[in-house]
Amino acid sequence: MGDGAETPVDPEDLVVEGCRMPVKMANADEWPLAEILSRKEVENRTIFYVHFIDYNKRLDEWVERDRLDIDKMQLPKKDAKTPVKDSAVSKGNCSSNSRASSPDREMSNGTPNFNIHRPKSNIGRKRKLPMNDTGPPPPSMNNITGIPMVDNAPSPVTTPLSISPTPLSQGQSLLPSYTQSTPDFCSSQTSQPQQEPVAAHQPRQTGSMATDKTHDDIITRMKNISMIELGRHRIRPWYFAPYPVELTICPVIFLCEFCLKYVKSRKCLERHKEKCNLRHPPGNEIYRKSNISFFEIDGRKNKSYSQKLCLLAKLFLDHKTLYYDTDPFLFYVMTEYDNRGFHIVGYFSKEKESTEDYNVACILTLPPYQRKGFGKLLIEFSYVLSQFEGKTGSPEKPLSDLGLLSYRSYWSQTILETILKLHKSAESERPQITINEICETTSIRKEDVISTLQHLNLINYYKGQYIVTLSPEVIDGQEKAMTKRKIRIDPKCLHWNPKDWSKRGKW
Ligand code: ACO
Ligand code: ZN
Repeated sequence: MGDGAETPVDPEDLVVEGCRMPVKMANADEWPLAEILSRKEVENRTIFYVHFIDYNKRLDEWVERDRLDIDKMQLPKKDAKTPVKDSAVSKGNCSSNSRASSPDREMSNGTPNFNIHRPKSNIGRKRKLPMNDTGPPPPSMNNITGIPMVDNAPSPVTTPLSISPTPLSQGQSLLPSYTQSTPDFCSSQTSQPQQEPVAAHQPRQTGSMATDKTHDDIITRMKNISMIELGRHRIRPWYFAPYPVELTICPVIFLCEFCLKYVKSRKCLERHKEKCNLRHPPGNEIYRKSNISFFEIDGRKNKSYSQKLCLLAKLFLDHKTLYYDTDPFLFYVMTEYDNRGFHIVGYFSKEKESTEDYNVACILTLPPYQRKGFGKLLIEFSYVLSQFEGKTGSPEKPLSDLGLLSYRSYWSQTILETILKLHKSAESERPQITINEICETTSIRKEDVISTLQHLNLINYYKGQYIVTLSPEVIDGQEKAMTKRKIRIDPKCLHWNPKDWSKRGKW
């Protein structure tokens, strides 16, 4: 007989941060490998925060034990380091509900985390708005190009091109510094964002805001806001955003849809609405056609709004810097008008001066409006601005998975539209166009034109010349895709003159 009594161990107790095992995905009978990022007790049961290894972070969620395949659990690697809280955290500047697992482990899981630093030469006065990773999209995102191939279409179109492919360049990503104090989120004092004074006390004179990836992972790995209410919409956030920690315990946070002020309850919002007389974003309305308007907002002149917009956008943009220093940026907010006002649909930000000729820093369609063509409308608008500037432009890299899908689709449709227009108007069967002419017509940067043609597999080398050959399927697909593009930007409705910011002493 042994002397000690053996107590059976509940396997659930062995499930700790860093363990991996198959986990059932929501609304699907799939069990991909996932990593446990955190666990907590809620009403006497344990729930686990999981990250699906090969999927975008927006699918991360809290799950119950019945969704874990504990029998196939892999324990955390012995050498995996527990992240040390960095200075921002230890100073109390940032807060996360729970500790995240080691970034080293994430690095080894095959899901690259793009946090590319700006090359030295690009480091200027400004800070940039970095983008998401380009991790693989979830299974629902297979229709990548948006140009379906169909049969029974007209004869092929061939267009000779002069071409010299150049690889796409990579941008960089810089990380935030932010603070969280303890305001009363239902008082008149909250009309100014809590973060503003910090920016004022710590002006940053260089673009060297880059923080290492560890910082990013520890702070931002877990979603911290359960739900937001914005106008008529309730929206579940996708990623972490550094809203004040007091708000992270609220089941819903309430935003004024016009000034973007955030409060903890509906009652507070009602009180705010009695005082807030905005019915549209601040800044100048520079475009209106039908019920769609664009407002141009200067990040310096309307700092408070711009900061709140960045904060809201962070909920849906991974790895996006939160910059309290919004001075170097312009924000173009797209709205839909009805008798209650101009409701925000999405926006993009743009550097006042971009050394790389980026024409978009960050772009977002709010989730209730996604997949209705508004993303392409925002993209089209950004290229019309470039057209008015007499320049080509490109979005800042890296793009997010959804950003890449949208840009690829926009570029394909726009380039094909240009080539087909040329073909219709030309007398010759084989009209000629150069890559530069496509760039001039569309304002799409040369590298993006080339990569799109290559991606569509349209370029052939024939008798010493590069030729674009459009098969009947491609033409038919393009025509179908264009009939779906119901709303387009009408350059005649844009009332805007580009400013030469380099000639100004201050942005
Ligand atoms: N699944 C599959 N395809 C998608 C999806 C999706 N969830 N979302 C967009 N697409 C594709 C579609 O194929 C569509 O092309 P199609 O018309 O040829 O089919 C194309 O993207 C554009 O669709 P839109 O309806 O015009 O775009 P939407 O309004 O949904 O906005 C955006 C796209 C802005 C990328 C949106 O998904 C978003 O805000 N995402 C979160 C923030 C983000 O990732 N922004 C981009 C970061 S990169 C940067 O900022 C430079
Ligand atoms: Zn308001």
